[in-house]
Amino acid sequence: MTTEFEPKIIAFLCNWCSYAGADLAGVSRFNYKPNIRIIRVPCSGRVSPMLVLKSLAEGLDGVLVSGCHPGDCHYAEGNYHTRRRMTLLKKLLDYMGIDGRRLQLSWVSASEGKKWADVVNEAVEEVRKAGPNPFSTNTKGSSGK
Ligand code: FES
Repeated sequence: MTTEFEPKIIAFLCNWCSYAGADLAGVSRFNYKPNIRIIRVPCSGRVSPMLVLKSLAEGLDGVLVSGCHPGDCHYAEGNYHTRRRMTLLKKLLDYMGIDGRRLQLSWVSASEGKKWADVVNEAVEEVRKAGPNPFSTNTKGSSGK
């Protein structure tokens, strides 16, 4: 009997939109996969590439960054920086031989609880396709065994 690989994903959510959207998903009782651990940040622009790389180096299988829709950032341009940074970082990961699918980026507003649930489910599937993190030092592996 084989058990399916269950990726461990850390999600950095901006306080104003995505975190509220995730909260709405919970209040609305939308089901989504339990592979995500959430860290609230003031703005998606606060998530530096080093934070993503450190998360992967620590053995997490994937990183999800989510913020307000472009044009809705509460700090005017934070998510524009995020969009540029994460797009470049994804390419850099691929270049370094680390599957770029490990980094997921999405825009979720405070009123999009259902979208948050869909984003999580899609992110989990994408990271699952990338497989267990080869840099994981967890002797039990990241498959949850
Ligand atoms: Fe939400 Fe900047 S405040 S992305």
